[in-house]
Amino acid sequence: MLKRIDIPEATLSINDVGQGSSILFVHGFPLDHTMWREQIADLSRDHRCIAPDLRGFGQSTVTEGKVSMEQFADDLAALLDALMITEPVVLCGLSMGGYIAWQFARRHAARLKGLILCDTRAVPDSAEAAANRLKLADDVVRSGSELVANAMLPKFFSERESNRRSILKEELRRVILATDPRGIAAASRGMAERADARPWLTTIDCPALVLVGEQDVISPPAEMSAIASSLPHATFRVIPDSGHLAPLENPGTTNILLRSFLTCVRDGKADCLPS
Ligand code: MLT
Repeated sequence: MLKRIDIPEATLSINDVGQGSSILFVHGFPLDHTMWREQIADLSRDHRCIAPDLRGFGQSTVTEGKVSMEQFADDLAALLDALMITEPVVLCGLSMGGYIAWQFARRHAARLKGLILCDTRAVPDSAEAAANRLKLADDVVRSGSELVANAMLPKFFSERESNRRSILKEELRRVILATDPRGIAAASRGMAERADARPWLTTIDCPALVLVGEQDVISPPAEMSAIASSLPHATFRVIPDSGHLAPLENPGTTNILLRSFLTCVRDGKADCLPS
């Protein structure tokens, strides 16, 4: 049963399940909290798992125009306030969720005790990529979310065909088709303008786990390895048999790595899962 939580100028729909230290799951674009279900099923046995639908996605309210990565990060801090969570949390973000995590680390560092970055990037958009996003934002409002489903779905999974991947693709198509085009447009405009996070990676001093699917074509392993090298306390792992959505495509391996990292954070070690 999802909760509805009011934050300034929006109402977020969240999955809040389990007890223990809190993990805040931040979904990618243009998805919703359900992309974390395999992690939540496992980790909620001994953690509090909080997975919101970001502003404009899932069942949360829509803000028209543009929503910046800074705004999404501030929404997450407001959500923790509304839930009266004052202890630092582990934030786990995928792709756009990672762009938001960089801003959360910069603006709300005291609320973080660990960072899990899945299939994400620290570089900003090139001029060409930003222009394409702005065009997509206008197009999706005119012609509907299917446009984005068709553009994104072929890039989400590894190349190997399987029944499970086909089912996941169909499921994500349904999620995207149910997403308000104005929410998709607002996040696209926000991503087009996102800052270059590389200059502040070296200042993120909590433990970090950097995960990437071995066939991720959106945020490739070499790029994520460079991110891990810039973070002061990061462990880098490549997830086999997966593309951009490693937590969904290979939940078994992902969950084992998340559990080891969470144990290490709990035990107060600065560097987790040494290779
Ligand atoms: C995502 O999965 O969140 C997107 O691939 C992010 C992006 O379009 O840059």
